[in-house]
Amino acid sequence: MNLKKYNSTLQRLELGSKLLLNALEKTHKAEYKSFQLDVSGDNCAKSFYQHHGMKVLTESRIIPLEQKRAHSHYRMKKNSLKKMIQSKCNKLRYLICFFIIFSCLASVFAYAEDKAINHFYFVQITDTHLGDKNHLKKAKKAVKQINRLPMDIQFVVHTGDITMDKLEDKKIIRDSLKVLNKLNAPVHYVPGNNDIIPARLESTTRAYIDNFGPLISMAEYQGVVCIFVYTEPLRKSFSINGYDPLEQTEKLLKESNGKPVILFHHAPCVSDFYKNTFHEKWDEKNKEKWTKLINSYNVKAVIAGHFHRDEYHWLGNVPLYVAPPMSGYFDRQPAYRIYEYTNGKIGYRTQYIE
Ligand SMILES: [Fe+2]
Repeated sequence: MNLKKYNSTLQRLELGSKLLLNALEKTHKAEYKSFQLDVSGDNCAKSFYQHHGMKVLTESRIIPLEQKRAHSHYRMKKNSLKKMIQSKCNKLRYLICFFIIFSCLASVFAYAEDKAINHFYFVQITDTHLGDKNHLKKAKKAVKQINRLPMDIQFVVHTGDITMDKLEDKKIIRDSLKVLNKLNAPVHYVPGNNDIIPARLESTTRAYIDNFGPLISMAEYQGVVCIFVYTEPLRKSFSINGYDPLEQTEKLLKESNGKPVILFHHAPCVSDFYKNTFHEKWDEKNKEKWTKLINSYNVKAVIAGHFHRDEYHWLGNVPLYVAPPMSGYFDRQPAYRIYEYTNGKIGYRTQYIE
């Protein structure tokens, strides 16, 4: 081979190699064997490619085998679809995991917040009937016990019948307040049927307001609205000038603005049951209006006394707790109650006085 022919052969080999490299770059590695190279007419290039396992055709171009190429295209599409589905599944898994973790964390934080904000204790005393028998002595014992309670008591509520028809007796009122004012926690009162007497309405109402406060009042403890309301006019169908229990209770319920509410009053609106028979109850229309009213707002419980017994009822969807008395009528052992408010739910313990 002379020098000219040798150079010409090298150029063709170089051209052929470039074609081959281009082909490999444009196609998948797996398709390498599906390409055939035509260098016919050039024996030198032909022998070079045959030496490297390539097939020689009759036309000078690189030809992918159509059938294999179609198969390869289908396989690539299939793989691409598979990858896309896998990717979507992974995203869905991440999303589900995120929601589970988020829900768990939200529950933990909500529980912690509720525990921190909406948990407290308060005490109920009722039916002390001071000014009769040895009731003042029993009240003194109760006050000492309540002041020694190990839990933090937010307030004490007296749900009526503070005296035994003795509101106009200044000495009895003075002695009573001397004992009750020793309670460490703030005290809220509501009058009972033995405090404001319909036959002496004006004088007893005045004596009550002067010594124990308004006929209806409201206080808020840790986001819970407490309403203390005199309801005897609803039970016995009498009226006090300028005082409408339903209207004024609704006014305060509206002011509570959706917060949880606990209502305190004296005589429950359900029938009094003893000696195996039903006794006096509220005026039926007033009972309906009262029940409808308390079910129209976020009232968590109604707490009362008057029955001198331990009772539990439902007024629609609102529970009614009736506490035993502090006085010793009917040979009852005097008692008071410790309530525990937790996240809209109320439980209690009854404590007896020796
Ligand atoms: Fe009573």
